[in-house]
Amino acid sequence: MREKLEMLKKRAQEELTGCSSLEVLNDFRVKYMGKKGELTQILRGMGQLSSEERPIIGQLANEIRDSLEASLSKVLQNVKIKEIEQRLSHESIDVTMPGVAPNLGRRHPLELVLNRIEEIFVGMGYTIEEGPEIELDYYNFEALNIPKDHPARDMQDSFYITKDVLLRTQTSPVQARTMEKMRPNLPIKIIVPGKVYRRDDDATHSPMFHQVEGLVIDENIRFSDLKGTLLSFAQQMFGSERNIRLRPSFFPFTEPSAEVDVSCGVCGGAGCRTCKHTGWLEILGSGIVHPRVLEMGGYDPEKVSGFAFGMGVERITMLKYDLDDMRLLFENDIRFLHQF
Ligand code: DAH
Repeated sequence: MREKLEMLKKRAQEELTGCSSLEVLNDFRVKYMGKKGELTQILRGMGQLSSEERPIIGQLANEIRDSLEASLSKVLQNVKIKEIEQRLSHESIDVTMPGVAPNLGRRHPLELVLNRIEEIFVGMGYTIEEGPEIELDYYNFEALNIPKDHPARDMQDSFYITKDVLLRTQTSPVQARTMEKMRPNLPIKIIVPGKVYRRDDDATHSPMFHQVEGLVIDENIRFSDLKGTLLSFAQQMFGSERNIRLRPSFFPFTEPSAEVDVSCGVCGGAGCRTCKHTGWLEILGSGIVHPRVLEMGGYDPEKVSGFAFGMGVERITMLKYDLDDMRLLFENDIRFLHQF
């Protein structure tokens, strides 16, 4: 056994001096010290030795292994240095070559506008609420005074998951959710940013888009509060020279209801292509919260009142940056996104 080990040591040392590449060195390690390597095999066979021999041979084997390891790492070091020297001798670095410019990302225009909307309303004392995108029919319609089979449901062709569960078609359900959560406390003064889904798809409609809902409930909230709030919003968003106008409209959850337009920023209200020669651009829907909605939310319509509004973030973004196709916002074309 001792002889066998001594011979192995001699043979291995000789072999090692002839190794001149990383590959061959790796083979060497496997051949002698690997799992099935020669030295490993010998160490495994030690169980058959007598108890006097075992420690002596064991020590010898360990010494041989350590010395082989040490030689191996020395040779390895030399080979590595040689390889680097060789590469340096025929490779060179041209320090005058232009570098690779890192590609910096930017905020998406929708995010810029959404952040600005939030900033404006937070500045007026609103807090931000959120709600689920997969919503119960009850909150999306029923609690907003849109009963089953009501024709107003047809305004929002919907993605249903089951009979009672759908992708929300508007952020308005968070009005009902917030009233349930807050009652009987006052005031409620929230905006609700979020994604909504409808079966629409053309230059001005996308099956997924973003809305910001607003809801204020307190004692003595009046229509003039709504109008003042929206005028302030429009001027902060689009510029202090802009004006708004309210047109009578219908929403099941507000009464009275109004569609709100902002004066055209391209022609200043005189009429041009952007505003289709009306001088006005529609930006949102709004109204005084319907007494039935207050009641279902757990508030007494005799004692409190409120206003609500809902705007499309894509639409506001298109107006702000004068875009003519909503799909630009979802195509992820860097040439477009780089302009904001
Ligand atoms: N939810 C409406 C829609 O998606 C927008 C809206 C209109 C929201 C009037 C309101 C509101 O809160 O008062 O078309």
